[in-house]
Amino acid sequence: MTEKNKILVTAALPYANGPIHLGHMVEYIQADIYVRFLRLIGKKTIFICADDTHGAPIEINASKQGVSPEELIAKYSKEHKKDFSEFLISFDNYYTTNSPENKHYSDLFFNTLKEKGHITQRIVELTYCENCGRFLPDRYVKGKCPKCGAEDQYGDVCEKCNSTYKTTELANPYCANCGKAPIRKNSLHYFFKLSAFSRNLEEWLGENKNLQEEARNFVMGWIKKGLDDWDITRDGPYFGFLIPGETNKYYYVWLDAPIGYIASTDNHTKNALEYWKNKETEIVHFIGKDIIYFHFLFWPAMLMGTGFNLPDKIKVHGFLTVNGEKMSKSRGTFITAREYLDQQDPELLRFYYASNLGQNMEDINLDFDDFKNKVNSELVDNIANFSYRVLSFCNNNLDSKIGTVRKSEGTIKKVEEKIEEAKEHYSNSNFREAVKSILEISSIGNQYFQESQPWHTIKKDRKKCETTVATAANIVKNISILLAPIVPEYAEKIQKQLGIENQTFSNLGFNLENHGINKARIIFSRIEGDIFRIKTFPIMLRVARIESVQEHPNADKLYILKVSLGDEKRQIVAGLRNSYKKEELEGKKIVMVCNLKPAVIRGEKSEGMLLAADDGNNLKVLDAHNSSEGDSVSIEGYVQTSDEITFEDFMKVKLTTKGRKAVFNNMPLKTPKGEITADVGDNARIR
Ligand code: 2FM
Ligand code: ZN
Repeated sequence: MTEKNKILVTAALPYANGPIHLGHMVEYIQADIYVRFLRLIGKKTIFICADDTHGAPIEINASKQGVSPEELIAKYSKEHKKDFSEFLISFDNYYTTNSPENKHYSDLFFNTLKEKGHITQRIVELTYCENCGRFLPDRYVKGKCPKCGAEDQYGDVCEKCNSTYKTTELANPYCANCGKAPIRKNSLHYFFKLSAFSRNLEEWLGENKNLQEEARNFVMGWIKKGLDDWDITRDGPYFGFLIPGETNKYYYVWLDAPIGYIASTDNHTKNALEYWKNKETEIVHFIGKDIIYFHFLFWPAMLMGTGFNLPDKIKVHGFLTVNGEKMSKSRGTFITAREYLDQQDPELLRFYYASNLGQNMEDINLDFDDFKNKVNSELVDNIANFSYRVLSFCNNNLDSKIGTVRKSEGTIKKVEEKIEEAKEHYSNSNFREAVKSILEISSIGNQYFQESQPWHTIKKDRKKCETTVATAANIVKNISILLAPIVPEYAEKIQKQLGIENQTFSNLGFNLENHGINKARIIFSRIEGDIFRIKTFPIMLRVARIESVQEHPNADKLYILKVSLGDEKRQIVAGLRNSYKKEELEGKKIVMVCNLKPAVIRGEKSEGMLLAADDGNNLKVLDAHNSSEGDSVSIEGYVQTSDEITFEDFMKVKLTTKGRKAVFNNMPLKTPKGEITADVGDNARIR
């Protein structure tokens, strides 16, 4: 454990570009448990975070939604704060990187690094869309994969064959925004000379005994291979801070994001240097394993170059899987913080994550069955029932009075040992083991209470009964204190029932004697049924490309379309002849119902149906030009079922339009690459 008394803890700054989900929550819960533990052992701790508000995706999303970036980040900032507060994340400050403090510190870093010769300028050749008037980030250029030839792949990685490449290697590249072919264009960029810090970084990694071995090894490997200088410039339009002296060049978001830790500290304490330049403080970052490079290389090098404190600890955690797999929207396992909060108690997730978080970077799995079992058997049966049993017995038989403890009792010694163990595990941020020790204490308590049989001794040996209850009540108290970092509200409620409050780790022990308690109440009860209800959507929708169009020989309103879903071809019959010419449909990417019972329409087979919106004046097919053939079209929060449906079932599902988009219950239909549009007015019926 650290000797330093002043500690600053950070958790990574989430992008203000989407909702917080249960994957994010691993880190905020982990960091919060640690912070609450530090506070309870008497360390002066501040817990600092902010929204990460800059970057191209935020600028592009805002412009797509027709709002300013400031409006977009304000909306997410509000949502994020609410989610965190309901999950009981006890930030001392939750700020924004789009702040005057952050501008000040970003400029200070840039100017200092420049003066010291750590910044250089170089011409880079980039992809540029003349039609949109912007340089295109990797994710905004698409084309044919140079390795496997798959169409519509992003500029950095192919989703079909997983190979990575440079944007310039894409065949037939096009702008993901407007579809036009981009050009190559030069720009003068600022680079941070990371390579010059290789030796110092190696030294720091070697000396700092608090870093996880696994992370250190990764980073040492990167240094050995040789570090590249870091491009810290982005050309406008961009949402970020202008680089001093420039009119259309901005700091890359990853430059000002970690500086946001300092800016948020400054906003909170009014003097960030008290933490960031004072050797008497300890700095602890919590991060996920995907951002090791930034926090173990760029960030320490920037701090070295400017004379700020280096982090003392960087705690790296793994990713979250749900039911053993990557979170997935189509399986309904991409659960946002809000969706969780709508259905479950946040403290249950805190307990579950704590029980799974060890000291290393391994992934943690949220398994729905395991969650339910753990909560029921450990939190409810073992812990919560023990306390209710002891305290309600005291209410009913001893006039709500706790008497005195017999210190020589063997049980007390056993519990004291486990208390020491739990403390040790907490200080190593090994919460999984801490939970185990606490559960053992509760088991010891349960067994002790059972074997002492106070319901018998109350009749024959009241003194003995009082000792049993006093000892057991002190065990309840100790459990409440030890659990407080994990389930703070539960701990507070139990302490209230015990007639005490604000207990810290200094109150651990068996000194609650001759004391009146309040009425016992049940706080956690067993989860019956499912822990989450998953909403289903009965239609399987996918993007298809129309390969050819023919008139139906026996019906003058119908066409016969041959469509491709990438991995399969189908024929469908569609009533579009009054609305579209053949050549208007050919090559179009549309949305198709794939699980409709096949039919024969006037002698021609139809294996599905294409979706079109009709507002009474116009009939327009849904448009998926941003997506690739075969992409599945989903609705956030809903799981699609693939069972075959009849036309009647299909007609019961109400798909409509809103703001030129296809929606279901106000939620947009979308593919991984974009939303599905419909060029008609609002509330048009889609079928
Ligand atoms: O990866 C991310 O989600 C980033 N927004 C984390 C930033 S952490 C810090 F450096 F600001
Ligand atoms: Zn463009």
